[in-house]
Amino acid sequence: MEEIKPNVFWVGAIDWNIRDFHGYETRFGTTYNSYLVKGEKVALIDTVKHGFEDELLEKLDELNVKDLDYLIVNHIEMDHAGCVDVIVERYPKVKIVTNIRGKNGLKDAYNIDHDTIIVKTGDKLNLGNKTLMFIETPLIHWPDSMMTYVVEDKLLISNDAFGMHYASERRYDDEFNDEEIGRIFFETAKYYANIILLYSDRVRKVLKEIKDMGLEFDAICPSHGIIWRKRVNEILSHYSKWSNGEWENRIVIAYDSMWNHTERAIHEITKGIEEIGVPFSIYKLRVSDLTEVMTEVMLSKGLIVGSPTLNREIFPSVAAFLTYMKGLKPFNKIAGAFGSYGWSGEAVEKIVNVFNQLKFDVVKSVRFKFSYEKVKEDLRNLGILVAEKVAMNNDEGQ
Ligand code: FEO
Repeated sequence: MEEIKPNVFWVGAIDWNIRDFHGYETRFGTTYNSYLVKGEKVALIDTVKHGFEDELLEKLDELNVKDLDYLIVNHIEMDHAGCVDVIVERYPKVKIVTNIRGKNGLKDAYNIDHDTIIVKTGDKLNLGNKTLMFIETPLIHWPDSMMTYVVEDKLLISNDAFGMHYASERRYDDEFNDEEIGRIFFETAKYYANIILLYSDRVRKVLKEIKDMGLEFDAICPSHGIIWRKRVNEILSHYSKWSNGEWENRIVIAYDSMWNHTERAIHEITKGIEEIGVPFSIYKLRVSDLTEVMTEVMLSKGLIVGSPTLNREIFPSVAAFLTYMKGLKPFNKIAGAFGSYGWSGEAVEKIVNVFNQLKFDVVKSVRFKFSYEKVKEDLRNLGILVAEKVAMNNDEGQ
């Protein structure tokens, strides 16, 4: 049994096989982390996804949990509150501890209306030898989200924040080699880009709040993936950078193409980027995983999007990407657009409209009738201008 600190246990479940988490590609699977804190009273923090209840209950049996006093519901989403009903049935005297939005959400989503203690930021629950303190973190990830801090052990049980979809028997960051940790950090960025990015203002607020509270962390224990114990400052620093829009000087080119006219134009654009010496990556959207593309888009300062015009519209795979990206509200981006057309040619303007809605700095757009041959210079300049601004932006930031 994984004992994180004396009488604080990991009692979660590992989902090795999941590859599609409500549309999010989870190539390394995931975990649903649940934690048990034993003082004179016993508290379970979060449950697991429905279908994994046996793993949770077996662990509670191993720990000889005959009576459970409190069930802390940090978040009502189905991957964490999916077994609240199972726990309430097994331990009918348990008191649920959550905030008012959590209480209402349990009723709305699960028709659970059990004995509940409502808490807000700064409230404490004394378990005898252990004290839990609650920090509301609305919209990281849902309105009900909150974190639980184990005061004596300096553990932040952070729910979705600081987490990543990564299945492993190893629980702590210091149990992985450098290559694995690089992968885990990418998965953590992926989680931020695809789940949390649009709430970056909330993240900044929470980071300030926990700093102002003077909280210290021996470990940060998220609800997905591994526990941060060696790299606490590093993960906090990443969250600070991502929430403040401090991106790397790289460019993503995301595009699709029908008869390769738009695709071939990329060669001219990249010539311009290479002249300035900025790294770039290219994604053909029809064959790329949106979750990964979105991660690279978030991490990179520059974005260039290409689409042919189809039926007076943006090509469907590019439109899907733009819709997905717009919802996640990336910010502080330098952007360009390009694309071929046959007769009407609306796609490029529509891409620029999306960029404008996101307040991107749009430096140039290029559209061309069928062949890019006549606009080679324009395309090269598009690459140069985006790359120059990305590089300049970087210098200014140093
Ligand atoms: Fe892991 Fe928002 O649930």
